[in-house]
Amino acid sequence: MNFSEKNIVITGGTSGIGFATAEAFIHAGANVWITGRNLENLDKAANLLKSERLFTVVSDTSNLNGIDDLVKTVAQSGKKLDVLFLNAGIATFAPIATATEADFDAQFNTNVKGPYFTLQKLLPYLNDGASVVFNSSTVATAAQMYGSVYSATKGALNKIAQVAANELAERNIRVNMISPGPTQTEGFDKAVPDESLKQQFASTTALQRMGRPSEIAKAVLFLASEDASFITGAQLLADGGYIGYALK
Ligand SMILES: NC(=O)c1ccc[n+]([C@@H]2O[C@H](COP(=O)([O-])OP(=O)(O)OC[C@H]3O[C@@H](n4cnc5c(N)ncnc54)[C@H](OP(=O)(O)O)[C@@H]3O)[C@@H](O)[C@H]2O)c1
Repeated sequence: MNFSEKNIVITGGTSGIGFATAEAFIHAGANVWITGRNLENLDKAANLLKSERLFTVVSDTSNLNGIDDLVKTVAQSGKKLDVLFLNAGIATFAPIATATEADFDAQFNTNVKGPYFTLQKLLPYLNDGASVVFNSSTVATAAQMYGSVYSATKGALNKIAQVAANELAERNIRVNMISPGPTQTEGFDKAVPDESLKQQFASTTALQRMGRPSEIAKAVLFLASEDASFITGAQLLADGGYIGYALK
């Protein structure tokens, strides 16, 4: 796939799926901006990616000031964007009986408010014909034990994406959702530190394994590409055939 001369923003590009997608877009010739909450992680990612076409922005997507930092950087570049991958997200698992307000707010702020206002504020900087991809999850539709809040954030995200696909169609901006199944990332390790539970997640897929971030990245590049020119408002599952039963 060729993205040369294309300008891409990826929120949360320091690790996991965002990092792998940045790498894939760079290999495809694009200029890529990645965000993260601190310079240290961004520098680490930049050192690994080693590309003159990679730019880093400290921008905490969970608050509007942080989003403004990203918008300012894009505005100052004088460039318009061809692809916006709204990827930054966090997950905390807890039973409803013990979930805290702090975890609830952190997940809704990062996973829902962040992408919503990033899209809103970057709209003037998107080229007509651009592509927006929201990073959702299989659990937006499947029930996930102890994932009531996280799943709810992804369900909300899907609805925002579907409405955005309709509202932005007049500018020929396509908006789609990628829904990964369990994928081996730093974020997954943090949310599910227990090795046997991780095995259980792997066993919920038909392929009986976790996904690799690079496999999700390929699906994102497809959605963002001209090959997907008649696809908008769609949710693409990249989940190894996740059967979606509740984990015990
Ligand atoms: N892994 C899975 O199994 C899976 C499955 C379905 C969906 N997803 C979704 O995929 C996305 C990426 O997750 P991942 O598994 O790749 O996790 P990850 O390795 O933890 O990556 C998350 C990225 O988001 C960034 N981030 C987190 N909070 C942020 C904030 N407030 N502002 C800006 N950046 C922030 C992190 O950067 P810093 O830490 O450097 O700030 C990091 O670059 C998430 O939306 C997640 O819900 C993951």
